Amino acid sequence: MDNKELIPMLNRDLADEHAAILRYIVHGYQEGEDTPIGASLLSRAREEMWHMHWLGMIIGQLGGEPDMKPAPYPFDPANRSTMFQSYVDYEKNLIPHYREEAGRVKDPHIRRVLEREAWESEVHAGKFSKILRKLTPGEASGKPGAEQKLPPEFLSSLQEIIKSKYTQMLQSIRNAWVFQKEAKTGWQVMDFSMTKMKQLAHVAEEVAANGINPMFKTDKLDLNASLAEALKKAAEDLHKTRMDHISLQAGSEIKKHAGLALNIELTVKQEEYEEAEIKEWIKDLK
Ligand SMILES: [Fe+2]
Ligand SMILES: [Fe+2]
Repeated sequence: MDNKELIPMLNRDLADEHAAILRYIVHGYQEGEDTPIGASLLSRAREEMWHMHWLGMIIGQLGGEPDMKPAPYPFDPANRSTMFQSYVDYEKNLIPHYREEAGRVKDPHIRRVLEREAWESEVHAGKFSKILRKLTPGEASGKPGAEQKLPPEFLSSLQEIIKSKYTQMLQSIRNAWVFQKEAKTGWQVMDFSMTKMKQLAHVAEEVAANGINPMFKTDKLDLNASLAEALKKAAEDLHKTRMDHISLQAGSEIKKHAGLALNIELTVKQEEYEEAEIKEWIKDLK
């Protein structure tokens, strides 16, 4: 299989893994991180992040442009029982799918990654089946997510922050994959994308815990071919989200959410740190 065929194939898989991450994260947050069902979903989401990452690294190595748009994740939202059944079906479909792809690929690393995605999908199907079997009748017929308590204006500020941070995080993961040959900077960019995931989680969790879907939507990503340009944009972007966080801190509603307020304070400091670091890297590139 040549790269012309291989890259689009891997990009479709990347979009499927991305979809699975979002589905399990949103559902996990809605259940709550401190519940057994929520914790299990978040654990699956983390494994899907590896899956996505391996594919993204390969696409970057092959000189491809990773497709950062998630595929749809079909599921029946009627209740927990139908949701988990959908997850079992989704994961089961991936087993023959990845096996078939692995059979068509010559490169031993890519083949092993695809085979692993097959057997780990099988494990996921098994774990979701187990949850499904163990649901109490009340859990099975119920749905996750509490009643909406956040004032609409505050909620919409949080959603805007989620959207900007999600875009920023995807942008930085994309840059780390595409510029992985610039070993040191590529690695640093990946390090910062992990901070962004955490920052995104602080806000997305607050929104999802209120029974609302966090706005995991992106602005347009910047598909820059130059690392210097990408870093310049990353620093500007961090400045912008820091200002958004600072303006959230200035409002009165945030004072009623002590945990979130603390995390936003931390985020602002981290963003200032990262902006300063990135500006140093830009100097070093020259
Ligand atoms: Fe996966
Ligand atoms: Fe999976």
